[in-house]
Amino acid sequence: MTGPLVGVLGGSGTVGRVVLDRLAGYGTGPLRVGGRDPGRTRAAAERVGGEPVAVDLADPASLARFCAGCGVVVNAAGPSYRVLDTVARAAVAAGADYVDAAGDAAALAALGRGAPAGLAERSALFSAGLMPGLSGLLPRLLAEPGPLRRLDVYVGGATAIGPLSAVDALLTRGPGFGTALAAWRDGRVAENALAPLRSVALPGFRHPVHAWPFLSAEAAALAADLGVDELRNYTVYVSENIPEALATAWAADDRPLEEHVPAVVAAADADVALDGPWYTLLFHARPRDPARGGPTRLVVRTPDSYALSGVVAALAAHRLAEGGVPPGARPAAEVLDPRAVLDALAADPLVDGVELG
Ligand SMILES: NC(=O)c1ccc[n+]([C@@H]2O[C@H](COP(=O)([O-])OP(=O)(O)OC[C@H]3O[C@@H](n4cnc5c(N)ncnc54)[C@H](OP(=O)(O)O)[C@@H]3O)[C@@H](O)[C@H]2O)c1
Repeated sequence: MTGPLVGVLGGSGTVGRVVLDRLAGYGTGPLRVGGRDPGRTRAAAERVGGEPVAVDLADPASLARFCAGCGVVVNAAGPSYRVLDTVARAAVAAGADYVDAAGDAAALAALGRGAPAGLAERSALFSAGLMPGLSGLLPRLLAEPGPLRRLDVYVGGATAIGPLSAVDALLTRGPGFGTALAAWRDGRVAENALAPLRSVALPGFRHPVHAWPFLSAEAAALAADLGVDELRNYTVYVSENIPEALATAWAADDRPLEEHVPAVVAAADADVALDGPWYTLLFHARPRDPARGGPTRLVVRTPDSYALSGVVAALAAHRLAEGGVPPGARPAAEVLDPRAVLDALAADPLVDGVELG
């Protein structure tokens, strides 16, 4: 392997294991694997012939040691709200490019406050997962042939949620994350514009689902970027289990967030028990010029949304390892080529359907 050393922090986790597998498969470069538990980290490293390194991202000295010598550092540890820009700063200080499988607007803003000098030469890609990530990248394909009047985004299904990600899910409320029931209309956020869709049949989804309008920060940025007149963004659930668990937690906001984690994990498990794990991304575009050619609908299906986030982070790291990405910090969706990513997804065993038409 002739590429740069790639360090994967959290390589023993659900997302990190897939990052490692794919990077090994792509032949991106030699691999370093980081985590707190030496046994789990060693086992993850052995699977890909990588170098295990004990590191706690809360310990700056161990984090600096982990990043030293890496050309690219991938963060697959969390929870994202606590990681923020910690690993990105250590990576850039060590002269490495950076990929975060999570990390949203809050992480980018944190890195922007007193941005490290090294960012003038290094690239840091955040939100390199499924949502945020693919949800902000793939719809760009539908806008390539010409401007859109309207874009509808539906992402969801049934998937197990680990305790770490449950905290991040519980935090997807309030400014910086998005606005429930809002749409994007004519260049701005239109509050209370949409209602939940209950028992709605959607192309690519196994059976009728509940779709909750949520204009995420990513969706709003996408709408502004593409100049669409209207964007409707929905999070899709197979039952009321998760919306109810989140609503209960948010109603009791005098309690520490961590107390609500078991209920969110159990709600996701109950959804999976209904019909097994499955997850769909559906994008539907209405061009401004109805006579315009080109695709108007894209469907991507996977049995494992968490694992697929690892594929996206690996593709972002591989892209950085190839070189030529402009320096600076931005969401991965603004840098990756949607066509190249879709082609890679279509060939990936974790994707069981891609329809573009
Ligand atoms: N964008 C998306 O669509 C998307 C989708 C899924 C997940 N995510 C995000 O990806 C992140 C990982 O999720 P996951 O489900 O893979 O979590 P996970 O299975 O719990 O794995 C976490 C990994 O991070 C390591 N880790 C945890 N705390 C650490 C610390 N302080 N220092 C160093 N390593 C640490 C763990 O190993 P040790 O315990 O040995 O340290 C483990 O390898 C989360 O932030 C999640 O929100 C994003």
